[in-house]
Amino acid sequence: MGKVAMVLLVLYLVVVMQLIHGLVSEDNWLEMGKEKVTHLHFYFHDTVSGKTPSSVRVAQAVGSDKSPTLFGVVMMVDDPLTEGPEPSSKLVGRAQGLYGSAGQEELGLIIAMNFGFTDGMYNGSTLCILGRNPALHPVREMPIVGGTGFFRLARGIAIFKTYWYNATTGDAIVEYNVTAIHY
Ligand SMILES: *[C@@H]1O[C@H](CO)[C@@H](O)[C@H](O)[C@H]1NC(C)=O
Ligand SMILES: *[C@@H]1O[C@H](CO)[C@@H](O)[C@H](O)[C@H]1NC(C)=O
Ligand SMILES: *[C@@H]1O[C@H](CO)[C@@H](O)[C@H](O)[C@H]1NC(C)=O
Repeated sequence: MGKVAMVLLVLYLVVVMQLIHGLVSEDNWLEMGKEKVTHLHFYFHDTVSGKTPSSVRVAQAVGSDKSPTLFGVVMMVDDPLTEGPEPSSKLVGRAQGLYGSAGQEELGLIIAMNFGFTDGMYNGSTLCILGRNPALHPVREMPIVGGTGFFRLARGIAIFKTYWYNATTGDAIVEYNVTAIHY
C-alpha cells in the first residue's frame, strides 16, 4: 500500500470512530434507551369569557358568525392543565396552540396544540397534539404526534371528555387521559 493510501485509510478510520463515538455519547437516550409508556390524567380549562380569557378568537371568515358550527373561526389558547377538575386545583402544565372550526355540517375542530408540562419529572417537557375534535361527542380522541424532553420521540393517544360546559359563556373543563410511548 502506498503512503498516500495509508494516510487516507487512517483519516477514514478516525472519522468513522468519531461518528460512532458521537452517536453513542450524544444520542445515548436513543441508542441505549428502551421505549417507555406513560399515562397522564389531567383537566384542561378553556375560558373564553370574562376579562382574562385563556382562549381568544384570532381569525374568522366573513360568514363564520352565521354558520351553525362557526366554520372558519380560529382560536389561540394558553389553557391551564390541572391535577383535579377545580380551576383552583394544582397546575401541572399549559396547553398552548390553536384550534379552529373545520367542519361545516358538524362541529369538528382542528386542534394543533403543545401540552407543556411544569410539574415534577415532566417539568419542561412537551407533548404535541394534532387531531380532530368533534367537540359535541361525549368521548373524543386525538393523536399525540411527538414530544420533547421526557417525551422525546413520543407517539400516543389522548382520550378526553367534557367534564363541565357552560353553554352561555362557552367555557369548558375537559378531562384528559393521555397515553404516550416515548424514550
Ligand atoms: C420547572 O422548571 C423551571 C425552569 O427550570 C423552574 O424555574 C421551576 O421552578 C420548575 N417548577 C417545578 C414545579 O419544579
Ligand atoms: C380516564 O381514566 C380513568 C381511570 O381509568 C377513568 O375513570 C376515566 O373515566 C377516564 N377518563 C377519560 C376522559 O377517558
Ligand atoms: C354560566 O355562565 C353564566 C354567565 O356567567 C352564569 O350566569 C351561569 O350561572 C353559568 N352556568 C353554569 C351552569 O355554571
